[in-house]
Amino acid sequence: MAQKAAEKAPAFFGQQEYAKGLDGVIACETHINYIDGAAGKMIYRGYDVEEIGEQTNYEETAYLLIYGKLPTQSELDDFTAKLISYRSVPPEVIQVLKIIPTAKTHPMSALRTGVSALGTFNPDAEEQSVENYEDIGLQLIAKLATIAGAVQRIRAGKEPVEPDPSLDHSANFCYMMTGEKPSEVFEKMMGLSLVLHADHGVNASTFSSMVVISSLTDMYSAIAAGIGSLKGPLHGGANEQVLYMLNEIGSADKADEYMDNAIKNKVKIMGFGHRVYKAYDPRARIFALHSKELCEAAGKPELYEIAKRVEEKVIDAYGAKGIFPNVDFYSGTIYHCLGIETAMFTPLFAVSRVAGWVARILEYLPQNRIFRPRAVYLGEKDLQYVPIDQR
Ligand SMILES: CC(C)(COP(=O)(O)OP(=O)(O)OC[C@H]1O[C@@H](n2cnc3c(N)ncnc32)[C@H](O)[C@@H]1OP(=O)(O)O)[C@@H](O)C(=O)NCCC(=O)NCCS
Repeated sequence: MAQKAAEKAPAFFGQQEYAKGLDGVIACETHINYIDGAAGKMIYRGYDVEEIGEQTNYEETAYLLIYGKLPTQSELDDFTAKLISYRSVPPEVIQVLKIIPTAKTHPMSALRTGVSALGTFNPDAEEQSVENYEDIGLQLIAKLATIAGAVQRIRAGKEPVEPDPSLDHSANFCYMMTGEKPSEVFEKMMGLSLVLHADHGVNASTFSSMVVISSLTDMYSAIAAGIGSLKGPLHGGANEQVLYMLNEIGSADKADEYMDNAIKNKVKIMGFGHRVYKAYDPRARIFALHSKELCEAAGKPELYEIAKRVEEKVIDAYGAKGIFPNVDFYSGTIYHCLGIETAMFTPLFAVSRVAGWVARILEYLPQNRIFRPRAVYLGEKDLQYVPIDQR
């Protein structure tokens, strides 16, 4: 234990501190979002997410994150109209999604490919003005939902549908996945989910997109990098893994045994723990409430019961270490009750988080300095080259 603690403590090399996984390293300045990890609080541009989460919609949240203030009605109308006008993607991008094995590959890989393909159809992709980065950023916020919708349709063996300009961003996203206008509950939950996932500190995918843009490359490359990073099970991919785990447990009365084994074997429990939060993630608190309602309404109360029991066991075992449910723990139970395919959970996260990636990139570019950390060299020095026939 003492040795473990020593391994995690920062080591100093010359004047430089080595922090594995950049733990605690301050990499930039921001006005966008603040997480109070000890108190379990999170704010978007000064507004407590628990207060605004259910009052705002995705367009308003994206505007707030990018432009730093709540929009007036006419600003919101203009912003919404712009996003609507940007929703369509070139038919060739849909063709690309049909050519790659979209039904067999992970939908996040298809989404990432869709974004890369999209970039090749924009003749202005390489122009390095702030205005161009902003414009492509807004295009990507609008088009990512379209690409994700098409990915879902192709996976289901169906033809992608055109965006519906009469629907707001989240309702249209539901529509593009299912081909039907969403129920009130579906629309409300999708809206809430898109708002709650929109930004969250300098997490791995946000940092990835910032690192990529810091070389002054194009916006598509940065967003594709964010998608690639978000896909991993230690980050956004955890929401999908949670549902597989809950399904594997199968029933609430089997949760204790499953968890006792997992805890004994030091298995990382998906949907728990966080680098910054050492208290209950406020987004998980909101999702937990809705999970109970939705699981009951969908006739799947046991899914919530299993999740609740898993939560109790994990907090019992690890709560003292600051390990609590994170955003990914209950969100999947909600998506499942809405009939969304498990593999699509992380693309849904991406469709939201793109606003955060864009906001962070636009905030960072005017103060840009290329990211270039150093490594502690542990290898040999002064070796003599040995010709291959003498090795
Ligand atoms: C989110 C996460 C990657 C943060 O990683 P991190 O800040 O590097 O934290 P560490 O992995 O160093 O964990 C610190 C300690 O808590 C434990 N821990 C962290 N998350 C845990 C989990 N989900 N289940 C069990 N133990 C966990 C670690 O084993 C470690 O214990 P130790 O000090 O005895 O070695 C990590 O908590 C995790 O893998 N969670 C599961 C995946 C997940 O839900 N990701 C979504 C995040 S929003």
